[in-house]
Amino acid sequence: MALAPSDSESLEWSLPVPSVQELAIQKLDKVPLRYVRDDLDQITPSNPSLRVPLIDMNKLANPESHEKELQKLHFACQEWGVFQIINHGVFDESLSKMRQQVQEFFDLPLQEKKRWAQKPGSLEGYGQAFVTSEEQKLEWNDMIFLKTLPLQDRSLNFWPENPQEFRKTLETYSEDMRNVAVSIVRFITMGLGLEAQKFCDTFKEGTYEIRMNCYPPCPEPERVIGLNPHADISGITLLLECGDTPGLQVLKDEHWVNVEPVNGAIVVNLGHIMEIISNGKYKAPDHRAVVNNSKQRMSIVTFCYPNPSADIGPAEKLIKSGSPPVYKTLTNAEYFHSFFNRKLEVSFIDSLKISLS
Ligand code: OGA
Ligand code: NI
Repeated sequence: MALAPSDSESLEWSLPVPSVQELAIQKLDKVPLRYVRDDLDQITPSNPSLRVPLIDMNKLANPESHEKELQKLHFACQEWGVFQIINHGVFDESLSKMRQQVQEFFDLPLQEKKRWAQKPGSLEGYGQAFVTSEEQKLEWNDMIFLKTLPLQDRSLNFWPENPQEFRKTLETYSEDMRNVAVSIVRFITMGLGLEAQKFCDTFKEGTYEIRMNCYPPCPEPERVIGLNPHADISGITLLLECGDTPGLQVLKDEHWVNVEPVNGAIVVNLGHIMEIISNGKYKAPDHRAVVNNSKQRMSIVTFCYPNPSADIGPAEKLIKSGSPPVYKTLTNAEYFHSFFNRKLEVSFIDSLKISLS
């Protein structure tokens, strides 16, 4: 039994849970009851032909095609909150090296991975997020979660030293992701008609966290969930697929849509902070991960946040022009405190709205 953290109200901790990879190699016919989620929607999307928008960053940068591609991005942010980007400027080699290291890490024996296991009271490390009761239903995934930038936020005791190149590769990868975040934030905020440079700067000085997910094959994929439906609390999130096995789904007009892996692309989804900055013009989409019965899937997810010394609130320019602020302005500390102390029965983003009464 794990020790409960001293602040029993806070959700910033997790109980230890069994490794799903270890369950998967037992070749069970049925999943254990703790994973059965017959309460959730079907995993097959109702509209399989819908595709999330694809944005070409070369076209955004090129004056000849800029205007048209920016329109496309604006539409993607308004209607979807998620899109894939190509020509993002990160070398294929850096992406494949990162994928390789993550694969090698999850391939290690359980005892070895446990050297970097989460400790009570912290979400960083190898384990599972947000498991706060022995009765709670579990997700069909294993993960390792690390704070990567700025440097002083790193807790190296959770950073695997096996495989050997893991730390070095993750360091490079986190810088690559910061560069991608800064460039895409420039265009996202341009699409909103804001001072793009200011937002680039705040993401340059932002904080970055990386969650590496492993979704093993499952004997009853229809009855479990890889990752519960949620929206991210980040500014934006950058997701790298490790192969061509689909699993990520996004909610669009009340239907779950598959995000099909595109070779070399990075999936971008907006988080609640961007929703707040845009004063609700852009929405952080609900998304989830589903699993299948034959193939393991892995994803590498970077949560990108603005500079923690800046307040989180609707962009001034958007509220000056006539529309009143929909969301409260909070300090960074208040924002995270609200999240980790949220009531699970109310939507987090709704709790940040200015009440009209
Ligand atoms: C996440 C997430 C989806 C995936 O880690 O926040 O949404 O497909 N992951 O791994
Ligand atoms: Ni997510």
